[in-house]
Amino acid sequence: MTETLPQLRLGPLQWTGQIVMYALFAAFVGYFASQPPVSLLPPGHGLLRLSFSHPGKFATDCRQRSAEELAKMPPQMRAAQDCQRTRSPVQARVEVDDKVLIDRSFRPAGLAQDGAASGYWRTPIAAGTHRLRIQFKDDLRADAPTPTGRAVNLPPLRRPLAPHEDPEVIARLPYLDAVCNETLRLHPIVPDVPRMLARPLELGGYRVAPPLGVDVATALVHRREALYPEPDLFRPERFLERRFTPFEFFPFGGGHRRCIGAAFATYELKIVLATFLRHAHLELAEPDAVKPARRNVVMGPATGVRMRLRERRGQRAAA
Ligand code: HEM
Repeated sequence: MTETLPQLRLGPLQWTGQIVMYALFAAFVGYFASQPPVSLLPPGHGLLRLSFSHPGKFATDCRQRSAEELAKMPPQMRAAQDCQRTRSPVQARVEVDDKVLIDRSFRPAGLAQDGAASGYWRTPIAAGTHRLRIQFKDDLRADAPTPTGRAVNLPPLRRPLAPHEDPEVIARLPYLDAVCNETLRLHPIVPDVPRMLARPLELGGYRVAPPLGVDVATALVHRREALYPEPDLFRPERFLERRFTPFEFFPFGGGHRRCIGAAFATYELKIVLATFLRHAHLELAEPDAVKPARRNVVMGPATGVRMRLRERRGQRAAA
């Protein structure tokens, strides 16, 4: 037996009530969407951040083992030197306009204190030009810390990272790494990696056999929309949001014949780029997109890429 529910009919009073309730709800949401006003920084202030990860020097010197000591040890453990793994903590001191804002020691990671010391510290400071002095000491036995100093212009509500001159630190900066990767993704210097077949291969429904070769088209894989949404867009963040496999991102080829200079080339790329950007504000001076051109096995810009120097560190340059 089925039972029909009575039909609910809304009269003018219910409709008016419903409209009033919706309006009240919208006003409630609208008000609290902007009230009370939230500012992450006090007005007229910028944020100074110090962020590093750095292995300190070993805390003690290695000790030379004597011949008697070595003779008593099992043969596979006879290392000539006895070295403790414990590292020095990293002492960081930041001064802004000769006022010390932080002077702290950061412990090395790991049970044996043999890992890198990591530090993160932030503070709002008044916007404007400041004299910034940073000192690091990563060796318990060293007398003086390594100072780095410079003037920085901190615009209101901006959050620049505390600069660092140490190439080892620069080489590990995540965003710089992402910028270099995104550049190599969009413009792989070697656009394809060829291989000669040693035996027959079934590839995408095709059967290929020696003496034919196959070619992995780096430039095409690097622009596959399924892997890289909006593939033509220069967006370094994609390398921070996701880790790509060696089959998805391979500017240095892959397998046994992968580029042996890859680590050196990326290190150099980062240091050169960071050094340029620290000393100059550059601007693209090409009115149109520069076309790529093949030069033997590598690709490069057909006409070079002209840049304009907008500003040198601390002084305005003629455009
Ligand atoms: C951004 C710079 C560079 C790029 C994009 C690059 C890219 C490549 C690529 C795609 C290959 C072929 C890999 C393969 O077949 O799987 C290759 C091979 C090679 N690269 Fe590089 N390379 C760069 C810099 C360097 C540097 C600086 C050196 C030397 C210090 C170097 C030395 C070599 C050598 C010796 C090979 C041949 C490896 C072999 O066949 O076993 N490359 N490189």
